[in-house]
Amino acid sequence: MKFFVDTADVDAIRELNDLGMVDGVTTNPSIILKSGRDILEVTKEICSIVSGPVSAEVVAMKADAMIAEGRKLAEIAENITVKVPLTWDGLKACKVLSGEGKMVNVTLCFSANQALIAAKAGATFISPFIGRMDDINLDGMDLIADIRQIYDNYGYDTQILAASIRTVNHVTQAALVGADVMTAPPSVIKSLASHPLTDKGLEQFEKDWAKTGQKIL
Ligand code: E4P
Repeated sequence: MKFFVDTADVDAIRELNDLGMVDGVTTNPSIILKSGRDILEVTKEICSIVSGPVSAEVVAMKADAMIAEGRKLAEIAENITVKVPLTWDGLKACKVLSGEGKMVNVTLCFSANQALIAAKAGATFISPFIGRMDDINLDGMDLIADIRQIYDNYGYDTQILAASIRTVNHVTQAALVGADVMTAPPSVIKSLASHPLTDKGLEQFEKDWAKTGQKIL
């Protein structure tokens, strides 16, 4: 499973990237707001750190303007993925931009039919939003499983990017149902290493080692 990090915090991206945990980055207008930085400048810095796909989102609502924004964002670096919303205009922009050879991430997906139509429009990635479905008591994992089945039935190579991942359990579930990629905040990615039994076991080993009076170095 590929790991994308869902942030514009360059220090956090650098730390995870040094550990080989970053296959790509996703951003959105809310993440850019949180960073307090200029979208072009911060996205360029992220692209200088990470070699994999870096999603930068258009903000226009009409297809022509989305295409123009997408072309400008794609000039930042070769690994830019233009992120467009799952609207009819977004699909038009997806078709044009993917036809130009640009990677396109179709975002804000909440149904299997939306995922199907995004694949037909040439999306490189489809982003079903798991956490936001949980927020309204819907099962995002069922959605990912349905998309997996549909893409496999027809051989679409659009990659399923499990987004709005908020918990470590979301990561496990998304991996089990066959998402190609997951994107999560740095805190969730770091939490994947944690287990209370690891902490408890280590505590006991430390105590017993101290009793031996030995040293390795
Ligand atoms: C993905 O591309 C989005 O940026 C992100 O996962 C949204 O997550 P949220 O629902 O926690 O804001």
